[in-house]
Amino acid sequence: MMEEREISQAVITRLPRYFRYLGELKDNGVERISSQELSEIMNATASQIRQDFNNFGGFGQQGYGYNVELLYKEIGKILGLDRQHHMIIIGAGNLGHALANYMNFERRGFIFDGCFDINEKLIGTKIRGIEVLPMEEMEDFIIQNNIDMAVIAIPKVGAAEVADRLVACGIKAIWNFAHIDLKVPDNVTVENVHLSESLMKLSYNFNTAKRNKN
Ligand code: NAI
Repeated sequence: MMEEREISQAVITRLPRYFRYLGELKDNGVERISSQELSEIMNATASQIRQDFNNFGGFGQQGYGYNVELLYKEIGKILGLDRQHHMIIIGAGNLGHALANYMNFERRGFIFDGCFDINEKLIGTKIRGIEVLPMEEMEDFIIQNNIDMAVIAIPKVGAAEVADRLVACGIKAIWNFAHIDLKVPDNVTVENVHLSESLMKLSYNFNTAKRNKN
């Protein structure tokens, strides 16, 4: 049994990438890998990899390297991917549709059970078998279906109120796409996703690279 320890957010941010690479290695039949080999594939330093893995016990043996399958499983456990999460999506617009249609989340254990909207035209329609329900039914649905995570995919206006309602019925994790910083109690986790911020970073790096070349 692994000891529960506080892991820094910087390490946690890197874990999904390790998980992805190890998954590919595992699928390709690789059984073990040294931090050096992994660093070459991942374009990271071997010492960073060793330091990161040391945070949760190391998983490595001197002269043997890392057991790919074991490491993959342990990182999956740390990320909470060894169990299923039941989720709802608030907002059945373009974004809500795209998320609900993306099957890979389900493969990782994130199950979308329901979708909610205020638009009468959308209520009753289905996205990949998931029925769009009216907002009035949200609280009962959350409780009856043991929902533990929610996605907010509605405009900024209304997002704070929706978040309050989610928190009031016990939701502890919110994946927020609305362009607003939600105020939630300490025991509720919010992960904000802003694609435009990623795009601005791309733009900055692109423009800087261009300047340096000229
Ligand atoms: P959309 O207009 O296609 O869909 C929004 C849906 O939310 C509509 O179906 C609408 O009826 C519903 N809605 C509005 N207020 C609601 C409320 N109070 N309760 C329940 N449902 C409500 O818009 P789209 O493209 O799906 O984007 C949704 C939001 O996400 C937008 O505000 C947009 O700015 C934001 N967005 C954020 C991104 C990000 O990276 N964070 C990327 C794309 C969009």
